[in-house]
Amino acid sequence: MTTIATIGVVGAGQMGRGIAQVAAMSGFQTLVCDANPEALDAGMAFIEKQLKRGLEKGKWDEAKVSETQAKLEKVLSVEGLSECDLIIEAATENKPIKFEIFKSLDKIAKKGAILATNTSSISITEIAAVTSRPELVAGMHFMNPVPVMKLVEGIRGLETSEETFKAVEDASIKMGKVFIKANDVAGFAVNRILMPMINEAVYTLYEGVAGVEDIDQAMKLGCNQPMGPLELADFIGLDTCLAIMEVLHDGLGDTKYRPCPLLKKYVLAGRFGRKSGRGFYEY
Ligand code: CAA
Repeated sequence: MTTIATIGVVGAGQMGRGIAQVAAMSGFQTLVCDANPEALDAGMAFIEKQLKRGLEKGKWDEAKVSETQAKLEKVLSVEGLSECDLIIEAATENKPIKFEIFKSLDKIAKKGAILATNTSSISITEIAAVTSRPELVAGMHFMNPVPVMKLVEGIRGLETSEETFKAVEDASIKMGKVFIKANDVAGFAVNRILMPMINEAVYTLYEGVAGVEDIDQAMKLGCNQPMGPLELADFIGLDTCLAIMEVLHDGLGDTKYRPCPLLKKYVLAGRFGRKSGRGFYEY
């Protein structure tokens, strides 16, 4: 039976900082690692700001803030994660980068430590295969913004053991999340459904069926979605949406997953959505 007390998070970007905040607030000793000192400081400062905002809004008290701060620690290299029971990788969505990280984690992590990835589209089986412990590797796909979204999509790679998957499920539940189980097939469950919807919204715009605001209003007011699909695409990042559509198209081989040419064009133009200041909307 694997007991998780200490969690390492690799990457202090948008997802990593959210995962670290939730882990520390849930009582796990949490070590946040980023090779880039500025990114690490920015991530920690963001968590600090979120803790203060929650305090001002009365979501939690001073004691919760200081308990959480005491649980958080920053480290600049993966060697600092050697005593973690579970390490969650939330680095850039890039295969060679993730493979390198997993090779390093496999070398430094203690015997029996679980290595999880927050990938939204890369095969868990393939990531696990670069390590010497594929039975201890699983997918833990958090949603953005992590402190708000209730879901963790658990993904079982070919070799993931039952014990590993159960430990990852228990840790997710302790983090206050609902855990769903998916198998390691392109897009898993969330993006297999979400991305074709977003891609179809882009086709709807491309073919002149409706304009940007009308498409978003249609889904917000007509289907009770908190954000319209184009607004959500900007929020996720159009480059990320395109990369996931390409994984679906290549992995499943069906033309129904063909990325919309307009999505491709926006990405080529550097319109990545919120993060670049322009996507379907201007920010
Ligand atoms: N971090 C922490 N908390 C945040 C936050 C962030 N980045 N952004 C918003 N919040 C909190 C706010 O503090 C606020 O909390 P309270 O109600 O307790 O005060 C709450 O969320 C609502 O925020 P706002 O009032 O500012 O704005 P909103 O009501 O418009 O909600 C939203 C914002 C939560 C992002 C909402 O629009 C939403 O749910 N959008 C859909 C998000 C979604 O679908 N995410 C999944 C994307 S897919 C993915 O992540 C996976 C993938 O692989 C691509």
